[in-house]
Amino acid sequence: NAGPIVVVGSINVDQVIRVDRHPMPGETVVGHSITILPGGKGANQAVAAAQLGAAVSLVGAVGNDGQSGAAMKLLVRAGVDLSAVTTVEGSTGLALINVSGDGENSIVVVPGANAAMGEVAVQGAAELIRNASVVVLQGEIPATGIAAAARLAAGRILLNLAPVINVDRAVILQADPLVVNEHEAALVLELLEPEREAPAGDEALVARLRASGIRSVVLTRGAQGAICSDADGTFVIPAPRMQAVDTSGAGDAFVGALSTRLATGQPLHEAARFACRVGAFAVQGHGTQPSYPTAADVLPDVEA
Ligand code: RIB
Ligand code: NA
Repeated sequence: NAGPIVVVGSINVDQVIRVDRHPMPGETVVGHSITILPGGKGANQAVAAAQLGAAVSLVGAVGNDGQSGAAMKLLVRAGVDLSAVTTVEGSTGLALINVSGDGENSIVVVPGANAAMGEVAVQGAAELIRNASVVVLQGEIPATGIAAAARLAAGRILLNLAPVINVDRAVILQADPLVVNEHEAALVLELLEPEREAPAGDEALVARLRASGIRSVVLTRGAQGAICSDADGTFVIPAPRMQAVDTSGAGDAFVGALSTRLATGQPLHEAARFACRVGAFAVQGHGTQPSYPTAADVLPDVEA
């Protein structure tokens, strides 16, 4: 009884380097290993949702540089519909990711083909987007592409504005939910209310985002779980404790999982509880997509 999920977003190849600690500007540190893995927030979220059993289509672009196979390997394996992924002249999106011993990451992304996902390209997938029960968006394609997808959407829009880019206020106000971490929450408030200072504290950030007119908000808090707020109320949701090996892409696992439950009509706070468990699962393994659970993986639940 779940409707189709359409993710409109980025596809990258991730070059993951393990370091003891992250380099400071002007500093050189020695890396231990380099691994080439599929990534990109859009692709990650699509894989996460599909592995949990949802019907998922991805709207995106790759380059004709011979890297698209590596970028889409796990999308194919997860059974994501890739009929709306186009190949454009130039390079596939690339992310350089440093992962330190404590599992923390820092990422530099070169958009490549993802930059082609503007209004015209997204319009090409109009039919698919119109028929989605949930349209999942992030900040790794041009703002014009995000706006076009939001205009076409008839279903629910899950806007994970990561990174925060300058999208129209109307697009942000269509989000249901907006999913952001605390840094992104403050930046979104700066877009919406440039003359006011963002409040301190996660619950205050959520309250201010809601007060600014956003229908529902999920604030992701890493190992601490999430806070979500909609017409049902505000809920503080814990995450299970995990030994973090690599936190990169855990937020994408969260978003993908959240979309699967929203597509079945589950209340936001219940969907977010499930998504916290999926995100926590993902920090236990290296990389983004290779660390995502399937529906068969048993995830420990925790009491609120
Ligand atoms: O959110 C993690 C993702 O961000 C990585 O897979 C990388 O490609 C960047 O887009
Ligand atoms: Na991981």
